[in-house]
Amino acid sequence: MQTETTHNPAEVIKLESEHVLQTYRRAPIVFERGTGCRLFDASGRAYLDFISGIGVSSLGHAHPRLTAAIAAQANQLLHTSNLYFHPLQGEVAAKLSELSGLPRAFFCNSGTEAVEASLKFARRYWFSKGTPRTAVVSLQRGFHGRTMGALSVTWDEHYRAPFSPLLDGVTFVSNTDPAELLAAVTDKTAAIIAEPLQGEGGVRPLSLDMAAAIKTACARSGALLIADEVQCGLGRTGVPFYSSVLGLQPDIISTGKALGGGVPVGAALFSQRVADAASFGDHGSTYGGNLLACRAAQVFLDELTSGLMAHVAQIGAEIEAALRRVAARHSTVVDVRGAGVIWGLELDRPAAPVVDAALERGLLINRTADTVLRLLPPYVVDSADVNQMAALLDAALAAVKGERS
Ligand SMILES: Cc1ncc(COP(=O)(O)O)c(C=O)c1O
Repeated sequence: MQTETTHNPAEVIKLESEHVLQTYRRAPIVFERGTGCRLFDASGRAYLDFISGIGVSSLGHAHPRLTAAIAAQANQLLHTSNLYFHPLQGEVAAKLSELSGLPRAFFCNSGTEAVEASLKFARRYWFSKGTPRTAVVSLQRGFHGRTMGALSVTWDEHYRAPFSPLLDGVTFVSNTDPAELLAAVTDKTAAIIAEPLQGEGGVRPLSLDMAAAIKTACARSGALLIADEVQCGLGRTGVPFYSSVLGLQPDIISTGKALGGGVPVGAALFSQRVADAASFGDHGSTYGGNLLACRAAQVFLDELTSGLMAHVAQIGAEIEAALRRVAARHSTVVDVRGAGVIWGLELDRPAAPVVDAALERGLLINRTADTVLRLLPPYVVDSADVNQMAALLDAALAAVKGERS
């Protein structure tokens, strides 16, 4: 089943500009449909999607199994609230538990809500122990979302300043200085929050030294570790959660993005000792973990554990090789970082013109941390897609340098 193109792009853009709160600087393209790693605009032009709705469309667009499952669920039952049971929440939670080693899940609708739940239950843990702690140590270049709690632990002042005052007691430390982290974590620290592989901050995996410092600091102070894996988790790097690559065992993991393959769903995952502090009524969400969200998550997790994660690991090696070949041809590229289906190319200049040049050529990527090109393709990306991406990216980099493309 396919809906035909019916929209006039100029009218779509005009209506948005008149009635939607102007918080997004959008590229002037109206997408109407997609399939696999391709999106099609209102004129029918195809784009190779290497950003996947910022890491969300994990199974690509219009994945037949996901589409069918969503349609079937819509025909049966979409929502009942958390006043009652439904058959899917426990199943999805069990699967997340198997992947993460954390036995309990709280379902919500976005990454930022997963971070809110993580921060709340870190406080709840200390409150229940009778020794309340509220201080949090967070990392420079960390991004955790836009709601007030998540924003409070997000580093970029540009996001924070207009909404101050935020939560008290947050200390930011360098993401590359283990000694600074060790000095900042005390017996008043409720939790350390960190992305094991920073996404918005420029696709920066934490070093093993930083991870070791986090471990030591938690062991010494009792502080809980919240791993924010909203962007880097759920198999994106070829393993279930990137914390394990760093040898970290978080008490809490926040997830979102890829989990619903495009259906909004997030989850915070808890160790037993943190979960034991929770009581009925402590937290809630009207939509959280409804049938639609859980059905989508069930399909994604089933695909992930039936070969897709192995595919991500293998295609990740191909993406890396392709990006390194491209980087070798352009002195503007000073670093290539990432794993699986999350990659960043650090440039020696602002990245936005390259993003625009790629878009003109039909390749969707984005810019993060000013100078970094970020690639977050769907997990189902294949070798032909990778080769096409490399050719288009090569041409975009050449065009921005003023070379012939
Ligand atoms: C690591 C991390 N945490 C939290 C969030 C917030 O997720 P959402 O935009 O779904 O609220 C993001 C979004 O980019 C993220 O990358």
